[in-house]
Amino acid sequence: MLSQASTISTNVDKLYDFIFWTSFVSFVLIIVAMLYFVVKFHRRRKEETKTAYITGHGPLEFSVATILFVLVMVIFAWGWIDYRKIIYGPDPQLEIQLMGRQWMWEATYPNGRKLKNELVIPMGQNVRLTMTSADVIHSFYIPDFRIKQDVVPGSYTKLWFNAVAPGEYTAFCAEYCGFDHSRMLAKVQVLRPKAYDKWYKKWKSDVSTTSSDLDPLVSNGKKVFEQKGCNACHSVDGAKGVGPSFLHSFGEKTSFADGSSVTFDENYIQESLMEPSAKVVKGFTPVMPTFKGQLQTEDVNALISYIKSFGKSEIAKRAQQESAQPKVELTLEDMGEQVFVQKACNACHSIDGRESVGPSLLELYSSRRHLKDGSRVTADEVYITESIVAPNAKIVSGYLTDAMPSYETGLSEKELKALVEYIKGI
Ligand code: CUA
Repeated sequence: MLSQASTISTNVDKLYDFIFWTSFVSFVLIIVAMLYFVVKFHRRRKEETKTAYITGHGPLEFSVATILFVLVMVIFAWGWIDYRKIIYGPDPQLEIQLMGRQWMWEATYPNGRKLKNELVIPMGQNVRLTMTSADVIHSFYIPDFRIKQDVVPGSYTKLWFNAVAPGEYTAFCAEYCGFDHSRMLAKVQVLRPKAYDKWYKKWKSDVSTTSSDLDPLVSNGKKVFEQKGCNACHSVDGAKGVGPSFLHSFGEKTSFADGSSVTFDENYIQESLMEPSAKVVKGFTPVMPTFKGQLQTEDVNALISYIKSFGKSEIAKRAQQESAQPKVELTLEDMGEQVFVQKACNACHSIDGRESVGPSLLELYSSRRHLKDGSRVTADEVYITESIVAPNAKIVSGYLTDAMPSYETGLSEKELKALVEYIKGI
């Protein structure tokens, strides 16, 4: 028996049980009725009389047809409701782009991380896969989750799920797509939320070299957007250009000159890139050139992510995230460390005991110090502060006078306090 590893899997199983048992009961009823009629109406050897001619029974036929109709409609409605959940689902907490190609699955996470033939999923979160293919039609199928959806080139399909149990599952390609179709598998790893967070953030820290605070996918999209000159006609701030602005476009209804409308989504963007004149937004003229053959599927995906980031729901999501996690206040000590580096204190003072132009600051705090004039002093807060502001006042024996500049004016009161705090902890 397959495990029920997603929230939808129990629904799907119940529907299958329902279909199985209604079919089983119908089968038994039909066979029993058939045997009964065979016995009752069979032609006896010695009798020459013909079988009775039966004209039919209106009410009986009508009720059988009604019962069957109702049964089939129940199955249809039930299936339709679950199907809608699987395809649309609630708003996702995690959206992964999935690309099928001969013969592998390639997943791209919002932070730009790419996985080949592998998906890592947080347990208990709404996940949406936005899928497309680089070549032929594939189909993404995770039996343990009871979800399956075609993956079509030049189009975007979606799958939603919420995994309920940590573990490892297998995704299959369920559409014959050529030589290695049967080996087009992906490992689906469901982690507990904390483990997932760790996994997700760990990678992020590896590539924290990008200075932009945009998701890499979005910033890739921005690059394509600018390289291809989309920005010449399309603004992202609501300003009207030759073409419509992308501010607040994604996910909204877009109307055309002929009165029809469509939701501005992945498929609409894809179509508008390849056949710009197919659906021209009301109030604009069809002047956009086609980008057929000029964009890789990856470029289109990135462009979509970029345009999507100006959609109402993405903007709202960002605002929510920003308010949800207030900027982490630096501790005084952390701030002190920054000042220490900024002011290049480390040029003369080591923090590991090595001697340099100035004394090392290792275990300085509350230690006794010999001064040049023969006196001794305890390195308390007052002493450390004084040595920063007026370095020549109490020179430690063995070091030069005038080697260190005064920081009386170079530091704010807070920076000074922070620096002292940091030095205390060395
Ligand atoms: Cu891809 Cu079958």
